[in-house]
Amino acid sequence: MSAFEQNRDPILAVLKEVMSAEDTRVFEVGSGTGEHAVYFAKNLKNVVWTTSDVLTKCGDIRSLLDASKLPNVRGPMPYEIGKDDFPRYSYDLVFTANTFHIMGWKQCKSLIKTLGARLREGSQVAIYGPFNYNGTYTCESNAIFDKIIKERDPQSGIRAFEDVNAAMLKNGFALFKDFEMPANNRMLVYTRLVFMKE
Ligand SMILES: C[S@@+](CC[C@H](N)C(=O)[O-])C[C@H]1O[C@@H](n2cnc3c(N)ncnc32)[C@H](O)[C@@H]1O
Repeated sequence: MSAFEQNRDPILAVLKEVMSAEDTRVFEVGSGTGEHAVYFAKNLKNVVWTTSDVLTKCGDIRSLLDASKLPNVRGPMPYEIGKDDFPRYSYDLVFTANTFHIMGWKQCKSLIKTLGARLREGSQVAIYGPFNYNGTYTCESNAIFDKIIKERDPQSGIRAFEDVNAAMLKNGFALFKDFEMPANNRMLVYTRLVFMKE
């Protein structure tokens, strides 16, 4: 079973739990192949799911979206954190899966800062992937995986939940829930708080 086949239904269940009927506009960062987008759009018919990724990935996503013939998938928008501007539309939820350990920490912080600046009060952010807690890996397979991705790119690496959480809080979000997911992954769901004057 592929990672996508293993995680799609548990992620869908969390999305259904945290999204209300009025939450219809989703923006996905780092859509990869577009498989998540197609699966979730098929199963969340009231949602318009907008995909994005770095420009070089957009061709493959486009092919998958076209083949799906779904009326409620959009994009892909070329969106590379640290390079492209975040789209100037309103979104109820921003979803990203398996990106925080691939991008550098600088890009992760840049995305969080952008989300804090662009999302309105009550919008949500859902971050799926592996995280470390209390300075340690949650399992041996995550430690091995971390070594592999760092060998591929020294900027990659499993992030500390505490660092992500601190950056989210600093940028105006509150942790709604840290969901336990299959294969030692987590789904961190945050809510944008009211804008405060500095
Ligand atoms: C491991 S893949 C995950 C793909 C998909 N979300 C999934 O869970 O299968 C990581 C994705 O992050 C994207 N990515 C890496 N750096 C990025 C950046 N600076 N801005 C936006 N996306 C980025 C990659 O292009 C890739 O599609």
